[in-house]
Amino acid sequence: MVTKGKKLYEGKAKILYETDNPGLLIQYFKDEATAFNAQKRGVIREKGVMNNAISARLFGLLEENHIKTHFVEKLSDREMLVKRLDIIPVEVVVRNIVAGSLAKRMGLEEGVPLKETVVEFYYKSDELGDPMINNYHIRAFGLATDEELKEMVENALRVNEILKRFFDERDILLVDFKLEFGRHHGEILLGDEITPDGCRLWDKGTLEKLDKDRFRRDLGKIEEAYEKVLKKVMSS
Ligand code: TMP
Repeated sequence: MVTKGKKLYEGKAKILYETDNPGLLIQYFKDEATAFNAQKRGVIREKGVMNNAISARLFGLLEENHIKTHFVEKLSDREMLVKRLDIIPVEVVVRNIVAGSLAKRMGLEEGVPLKETVVEFYYKSDELGDPMINNYHIRAFGLATDEELKEMVENALRVNEILKRFFDERDILLVDFKLEFGRHHGEILLGDEITPDGCRLWDKGTLEKLDKDRFRRDLGKIEEAYEKVLKKVMSS
């Protein structure tokens, strides 16, 4: 058992608390949702509870498949115990199907399958609105070493294969997602969360959106979509 300590950091969707163990933190999931770099704000009822459960299940799945993550255990409805990370400020986005900013940038309709998986990097900075960067920027600004970046990309692609298959078996298309990594005792671990906040998930049959795009684009039935994902993710 760990004892909850003081608040270390509050983000847009989560809070991190210290514990009596310096290597472990408690990650608390909030109901608040933001989009477009927090210009749009709202609440998705019980999102914190659903996202904690979804993340715990998916981190567990990845660990079973030998991906190293910060996840230790689910503590309560809204809290999980995680390893403390020195977060690498590079968001790794993996795409299987054209959607969102890629559709916009390339002037394409959403829903076109990509011939090859696309990996993109974004500089994690709220003030700058997470600008897209490449491996040269990452090296020039010392955000991560070449070795670290190689490991991040390899892991992101392995995560993609594991999650794509897992969701496919549950009749959900994994369109794209964002990952964050961090350093912990000399290792690179997958951090943050894996939830419909940071993944695009479409119903395989109807292509109905089951993720935060329902909030970003005012599509309604947001809670129902998250519940559907939760149910599918928890089903064996
Ligand atoms: P994008 O198409 O808007 O670039 O988003 C790609 C994926 O990354 C999508 O699954 C949502 C996720 N994402 C985040 O988790 N946080 C963000 O700030 C953004 C812009 C996207």
